[in-house]
Amino acid sequence: MSKGKFYITTPIYYPSDKLHIGHAYCTVATDTMARYKRFQGYDVMFLTGVDEHGQKIEEKAKAAGVTPQQFVDNIVKGDRGILDLWKLMNISYDRFIRTTDDYHVEAIQKIFRKMYDNGDIYKGAYKGMYCTPCESFWTESQLVDGKCPDCGREVHYAEEEAYFFRLSKYAEPVRKLLTETDFLEPKSRVNEMVNNFIDPGLEDLCVSRTSFNWGVPVDFDPGHVVYVWVDALFNYMTALGYMNSAHDELSKFWPADVHFVGKEIVRFHSIIWPAMLMSVGEPLPKKVFGHGWLVIDGKKMGKSFGNVVDPYVLAERYGVDALRYFLLREFPFGSDGNFSNELLISRINSDLANDIGNLVSRSAAMVEKYFGGVLPAERAKNDAEDAELVSMLRALRGEYEAHMEQYAFQSALMDVFKVISRANKYIDETAPWILAKDEANMPRLAEVLYNLIETVRICSSLLVPFMPESAEKFRRQICAGEKDFTWDAAAEYGKFAPEAKITKGENVFPRLDLKKELAELEAVSKPAEKAEAKSKTADEPVGLISIDDFRKVDLRVAKVVACESVPKADKLLCLKLEVAGEERTVVSGIAKWYKPDDLIGKKVALVYNLQPAKLRGVESCGMILAASVGDAARVIFFDDDVPTGSKIS
Ligand code: MSP
Repeated sequence: MSKGKFYITTPIYYPSDKLHIGHAYCTVATDTMARYKRFQGYDVMFLTGVDEHGQKIEEKAKAAGVTPQQFVDNIVKGDRGILDLWKLMNISYDRFIRTTDDYHVEAIQKIFRKMYDNGDIYKGAYKGMYCTPCESFWTESQLVDGKCPDCGREVHYAEEEAYFFRLSKYAEPVRKLLTETDFLEPKSRVNEMVNNFIDPGLEDLCVSRTSFNWGVPVDFDPGHVVYVWVDALFNYMTALGYMNSAHDELSKFWPADVHFVGKEIVRFHSIIWPAMLMSVGEPLPKKVFGHGWLVIDGKKMGKSFGNVVDPYVLAERYGVDALRYFLLREFPFGSDGNFSNELLISRINSDLANDIGNLVSRSAAMVEKYFGGVLPAERAKNDAEDAELVSMLRALRGEYEAHMEQYAFQSALMDVFKVISRANKYIDETAPWILAKDEANMPRLAEVLYNLIETVRICSSLLVPFMPESAEKFRRQICAGEKDFTWDAAAEYGKFAPEAKITKGENVFPRLDLKKELAELEAVSKPAEKAEAKSKTADEPVGLISIDDFRKVDLRVAKVVACESVPKADKLLCLKLEVAGEERTVVSGIAKWYKPDDLIGKKVALVYNLQPAKLRGVESCGMILAASVGDAARVIFFDDDVPTGSKIS
């Protein structure tokens, strides 16, 4: 039975250029929210689409020698166009609107007339500064250094006969809406709107143009086309059937539960949109959430800055789910996020390859190895060892839900991965490979492995909205049924019984070689972008590294389980290390100061993500840390109670 309805939207995109990863950011977030609500049992409407009118499109089409409709068709439906991109990114929209759709055009004409008839639209003359790329008129006081306050580009003086919307009339109701309700979030954006736009005095808004044709014609005054933002904002309602008969879901889904929008268009959504809805007498959406931008070196990612990142390149290389996960895990949704390839690859390695990837493959492999894939019913609990993991599993869905309801995707993912890390630590604490040595320990071993499989089940089911395909692969690896991956089952620790024999399956997220990936990504990025990036870094200070650079180094605690000298190399020792159940070989030039017996059984600091290198014919996978004291080396040791695999930061 449905828990109710949930209507969520993305902004409709300008098809003036191919979309980049910044555009995909909001759509992935919206998709995740829509999937989460469906997972909970809501009847969801997820709307996205394209905003096809306006002067910018008309000019671009002219330059390309095609009609505006041909121009937008190509960007929407052409090869690697918007529809292809949403397919690639696994975007589960329920409806896709194009503002050139006939039903929308007709509806906009009726809406414009309705506001004209009720006296909220009147004819006047517009004189002011106009930004063509943003399709916005600005007053002198709104300009920043004489330039467009949104995009920083040149504006020009424009004067034309135009219709105006009485925005000023709605200043006080809109102020109340922003300051006395939770309509706009995050809260920081409320002050921005009130201080920058409402306090200085809302001016009436110019809502028609005569200087170009590519727009919805004002049916009662030929020569005028409707301002593109009036046309665009009402898409959220026309797509449900408002003022048209193409659809019939207005009463079911309106008002929207939330509009996700980028921060530069919060003004349109939190001031102009509610004012127009008040004018036509329709209910207001419940919430507008203004998210941050993906930036590169502090600049918004965008065509005009020449710093766009192509989602195709990344999704095809690393998989759509890795990209989706990264976008929502790396940056808090309400703030800007500094994108870099290093961050992406490091995040894939640390969270997906190491944390969850390892947990799933090690757990499944141990069930296969020790029990032929079937856990026996006889299991022995041990509260001292199990209690923390089990109570975290029991609390997880509630914590996750609380964060998801606030659109705090990053925190919800951290909730899940906190439990995954705890389970990896639990493997070290319980040491299943030692339990397996004694037949008498089998019931205990079975309980340990059961807890690990339960962790995989509960955590990966909560990852379904974020990484639908990978979560499905994890589900199959532990032989869980669809009934085990439901919202209800995510809150039920301990009832799960696998449906078949568990076997170690494919590695869903193989580890990436950071250096190699960075070099290859660099090679595929466009020459113009490279040239720009070079000029940007030329005068950066050398010698200091950023915290992001430091985070690239994955340092872990490892235990020396064996050590011997390397034949014909009197400086080298070959160490066998154990890191959270995984075995590593490391060659180290410390033979002059340490004998094998000095090291065996000790816990050391390992550079875990160092590229392997061959030393005297032995492949060394990592490096152990030591201090240089004069010309000697002193290895860093950890106390015995620090579990192997613990991250050092
Ligand atoms: N057509 C309008 C929206 C009308 S909604 C009634 C528009 N289109 S857009 O294509 O320019 O932008 C669409 C969305 O993409 C906006 O929310 C914008 O903030 C977002 N992004 C564009 N570049 C972005 C980043 N670099 N980072 C994050 N989001 C970005 O505005």
